[in-house]
Amino acid sequence: MKAIQFLIGFALFALASSLASAYDPSPLQDICVAIIDHKDGVFVNGKFCKDPKLAKAEDFFLSGLDKPGNTENRLGFNVTNANVEQIPGLNTLGTSAVRIDYAPYGQNPPHTHPRATEILVVLEGTLYVGFVTSNQLNNTLIAKVLNKGDVFVFPIGLIHFQVNIGKTSAVAFAGFSSQFPGVITIADTVFGANPPINPDFLGKAFQLDPKIVKDLQDKFINGN
Ligand SMILES: *[C@@H]1O[C@H](CO)[C@@H](O)[C@H](O)[C@H]1NC(C)=O
Ligand SMILES: *[C@@H]1O[C@H](CO)[C@@H](O)[C@H](O)[C@H]1NC(C)=O
Repeated sequence: MKAIQFLIGFALFALASSLASAYDPSPLQDICVAIIDHKDGVFVNGKFCKDPKLAKAEDFFLSGLDKPGNTENRLGFNVTNANVEQIPGLNTLGTSAVRIDYAPYGQNPPHTHPRATEILVVLEGTLYVGFVTSNQLNNTLIAKVLNKGDVFVFPIGLIHFQVNIGKTSAVAFAGFSSQFPGVITIADTVFGANPPINPDFLGKAFQLDPKIVKDLQDKFINGN
């Protein structure tokens, strides 16, 4: 029975993918609250769903986004997530949010969200933000300084960043077109891959001496 459900699920997934929609599949019902224990659930997409009759307000609720994350780290930023992991009621709904705190001169380094477009709103401070277009569009940097109340969009899949260029802390909130956008931090994935990517390959790709690559790998893998 489990195997059949899995196969049907897999076939539906393959069908959905072949329709060339890179976005979260649209919800197939009003609500589909995620549950941890699969045995009483019905699998739709994303996560297993709770019986809708058992849904409660808490399934759609999260508190604490008024509190700043701790930015005392190497890059001076902190992301507080409000996605399907924290709010099970987001399951299949194709949206989520984050709060981002930046220490003075802190940064959210170049990264990409494989499943979501992001729309960012600055609440406090001054951010220099940008994204880079794909190879086909000549890797053009599209960047701007944002102040309180400003909004900026990072298109799905494109590498983007935010830097606090002010002397004070900055705060932004962002919304995503996915219940679980995913994050690929470029430096961590390239130089922090486990096991490490051959330093000669990376040296050639990044026009770096393999010794420098090894040094970077040591920093990203071992935190030295
Ligand atoms: C972000 O802030 C939270 C809450 O203060 C903290 O638990 C967490 O370790 C911080 N993360 C990083 C990467 O500094
Ligand atoms: C990219 O560069 C090529 C060669 O210079 C040019 O022909 C093309 O118009 C550029 N495309 C864009 C989107 O800027």
